[in-house]
Amino acid sequence: MRHSQLMTVFAFVFICLADESKLKVKPASKPVRLFTDEELRRYDGSEDGQPIYMAVKGVVFDVTSGKHFYGKGAPYNALVGKDSTRAVAKMSLNPEDLTHDTMGLTTEELDSLESVFTGTYKSKYPIVGYTHRRLLNEDGSPNEDFKPEDQPHFNIRNEL
Ligand code: HEM
Repeated sequence: MRHSQLMTVFAFVFICLADESKLKVKPASKPVRLFTDEELRRYDGSEDGQPIYMAVKGVVFDVTSGKHFYGKGAPYNALVGKDSTRAVAKMSLNPEDLTHDTMGLTTEELDSLESVFTGTYKSKYPIVGYTHRRLLNEDGSPNEDFKPEDQPHFNIRNEL
């Protein structure tokens, strides 16, 4: 067998062995990163060269590629480093709306939230984790109903 043929066979065997679907035991799920409010605050765009994160509905997005919207001095900088669900739902930058709290939002505002969440955030920005409100119950125990969001068009890097 020529050297190049041998290499092809090796490559094939390697790919087969590397194929996760051949494993008998599959990992239950990928680890996800949990953000406290304090941790999320570090990614508020105030330091040049640092990543910029914001949460919508408890999902933390890396919005660094939208620096012209979210960076220091940019128009939507107030939304980052926190969960800005209410502000996004109401299209408001009022300080009292810069919160995860959705209490009392109208049906129109909730519809608008869903459409911006899916059409802008989930489609443009990679998910890097979830806030504690999404991952944990109020008593700190794990939320058994947690399901990671689907984002098949991004190759999500495991941070843990
Ligand atoms: C005079 C008022 C405003 C104007 C003229 C304006 C204009 C724009 C424009 C031109 C875009 C880009 C759309 C695109 O990429 O296709 C945009 C995106 C956006 N705007 Fe506004 N906007 C205004 C107020 C607001 C307010 C008050 C909020 C409060 C939350 C807001 C939140 C957003 C968000 C979240 C995006 C998406 C940014 C992204 O793609 O990451 N806008 N806006």
